[in-house]
Amino acid sequence: MMDLEALKSDLMARIDAAGDVAALEDIRVSALGKKGEITAQMKQLGGLDPEARKAAGQALNALKDVIAGALDAKKSGFADAELNARLAAEAIDVSQSPRPRKVGRLHPITQTIDEIIDIFGQMGFVWAEGPEVEDDWHNFTALNMPTDHPARQMQDTFYMNGHSGDEGSLVLRTHTSPVQIRTMLKEKPPIRVIVPGRTFRSDSDATHTPMFHQVEGLVIDKTSNMAQLKGCLLEFCRTFFRAPDLTLQFRPSYFPFTEPSAEVDIRCDRSGGKLVIGEGDDWLEVLGSGMVNPRVLEACGLDPEEYQGFAFGLGIERLAMLKYGIPDLRTFFDGDVRWLQHYGFEPHLLPSLVRGR
Ligand code: PHE
Repeated sequence: MMDLEALKSDLMARIDAAGDVAALEDIRVSALGKKGEITAQMKQLGGLDPEARKAAGQALNALKDVIAGALDAKKSGFADAELNARLAAEAIDVSQSPRPRKVGRLHPITQTIDEIIDIFGQMGFVWAEGPEVEDDWHNFTALNMPTDHPARQMQDTFYMNGHSGDEGSLVLRTHTSPVQIRTMLKEKPPIRVIVPGRTFRSDSDATHTPMFHQVEGLVIDKTSNMAQLKGCLLEFCRTFFRAPDLTLQFRPSYFPFTEPSAEVDIRCDRSGGKLVIGEGDDWLEVLGSGMVNPRVLEACGLDPEEYQGFAFGLGIERLAMLKYGIPDLRTFFDGDVRWLQHYGFEPHLLPSLVRGR
């Protein structure tokens, strides 16, 4: 018979040192398993005489109980420690208010409209809007485009009730300019409005989509002039493109509802194979503008001898593409969340261009 005290203290020391449940299991097998040390001692009992067998049997059973008990105690200690660690890791502070998860992003169109409104808002313009389904008179006639006017053909109009071209028909507005008319009919000068909105033309290719966005500006009072129009647009372009030295040029143009009319180009650089706005020797067209045609004032019941003013219109997608380097117009309307994740904006994340918050 081996020294049971020595075996006991060896096993107890190993149990004490065991670091996890698996180590305890190894010890159990090596002591109490089929080929374990205590089991081996049990097997030898048969060779002893009855007296000695009884004493040794009792001693071995006692040792077995002690070791099994020590293994169990240590094991439940591990289980407690594991549970406590899990409870600590998964603890929820119920006194903390829930943080809302951010869902979605602002579309670049929304962001660009916000920026434009912000800048013109600082100059004293107020926001206005009009219907997307417009009548022929507001969209064309009152803007000095009577039924037979060739400029009507330039805009690929969507007609609503099957017939085209007569003054009774409804159209999807081809520009935001009819809101000029609605504003002048409703309000007395001085007028300063900025009008963002959807517009529609039956045109679809790499650079045209049947629905797109414009912003219209209108100023009517007794003194506003072309120099103020230019100053106003210069200020806008410099702020919008964050290019304090940007310059612009007026190019003579034609719109039926403005006289004189000018298309506005901003200075840019294309030499490096990449477009840089605000510097260089090249020009880039960004908007249409002019002094409001006296015939438009008359159509709205305003005396052109007393009132004058200017108007301008710009394409929002184009400005967004230029400012944010978005290469393909059609992707704006694909509704692809990955695109939005990439080109979209977090609400209120960007500081205001004007107020710097
Ligand atoms: N409505 C014109 C367009 O859609 C733009 C414009 C607006 C031009 C106001 C001059 C004045 O092309």
